[in-house]
Amino acid sequence: METILLRVRDPQQDREAVQRAAVILRGGGLVAIPTETVYGLAANALDPAAAARIFQAKNRPPDNPLIVHIEALGDLPKIVRYVPHKAIDLAEAFWPGPLTMILPKREVIPDVVSAGLDTVAVRFPSHPVGAAIIRESGLPIAAPSANLAGSPSPTNARRCVEDLSGRVEAIVDGGPCQVGVESTVITLAEDTPRLLRPGFITLEQLCGVLGDVAVDNAVLSKLEEGVKPSSPGMKYKHYAPKARVVLLEGSAEEFVRFVNGQHGKNIWALAFGPEASGLKKPYLLMGETPEEQAQRLFECLRELDDRGAELVYARCPKKTGVGMAVFNRIARAAAFTIQKL
Ligand code: TXA
Ligand code: MG
Repeated sequence: METILLRVRDPQQDREAVQRAAVILRGGGLVAIPTETVYGLAANALDPAAAARIFQAKNRPPDNPLIVHIEALGDLPKIVRYVPHKAIDLAEAFWPGPLTMILPKREVIPDVVSAGLDTVAVRFPSHPVGAAIIRESGLPIAAPSANLAGSPSPTNARRCVEDLSGRVEAIVDGGPCQVGVESTVITLAEDTPRLLRPGFITLEQLCGVLGDVAVDNAVLSKLEEGVKPSSPGMKYKHYAPKARVVLLEGSAEEFVRFVNGQHGKNIWALAFGPEASGLKKPYLLMGETPEEQAQRLFECLRELDDRGAELVYARCPKKTGVGMAVFNRIARAAAFTIQKL
């Protein structure tokens, strides 16, 4: 299949491209679209055949459910059985934005989208281009991250092209994503709200609105063998580059000393900032603030593959605020190999 590239920086000015993307979606096709978090691989969430094509294009295991994207709060009751107070409070605080809520699903959401669960993940993205395409389609849009299963989520159109060219009808280039890691996922389908995946909307912010929020075991530690995850996506070796990644917990000085003492081919460092000037190995920089680290992390992982890195020593991010999301993703890239210095 030929994949067309549509450039949209301003949905008003590039209206024709927005309309073309929407026509493809209404016709049951697949379009990679920008969101504020990462690029998503979009399809009509109400059409089981279209949604099934997402799984094919990504090589996604069929037991990993998709997030359904809406572009107006009024669309929420159309896809979920009821809207609890807590969902309204969260929506008022964080929508449109990088927060996904798990709620009991209505029949209209096909089983292929929810992977057979009786809940559905819903998100209202804030990216002007992504939102404009969803609005123009007039549909709820199922969209996982627009990468091949197993590789890091794409934060720019070039990476979507690398993974999905020839597999989807269109890729919309809306520039680099601002957030850089996938949305925060919280389930409201149980008595106590529980954080399933940390993101740019932090645990602290969620607690500020809801009071108590539990944190799923899979967020900060490796899922035990044989344990059924609450969020099926948690069990997959996600976000993994080809290189082996080792997280090093310690000060900047300890990091530099350790990395410089290593011998071998194609050893790289993934550092935060100024400490890298002391490194005698090649390195990439994630940035000094958790927000910068979140924005750069996935692109750094992909770049390390491009450069042929075989072993990567990475600084360990802090685990609070947006840092929790950065830690969660990089720890998974490292298969939870964390070494204290
Ligand atoms: O920022 C994002 O959320 C991006 C953009 C494109 O919106 N999307 C994204 O989708 O990251 P995906 O499919 O890569 O991740 C969805 C996560 C998976 O871990 C999946 O298991 C979980 O959400 N999930 C989806 N539906 C669920 C449900 N009903 N119950 C529990 N977890 C669910
Ligand atoms: Mg994904």
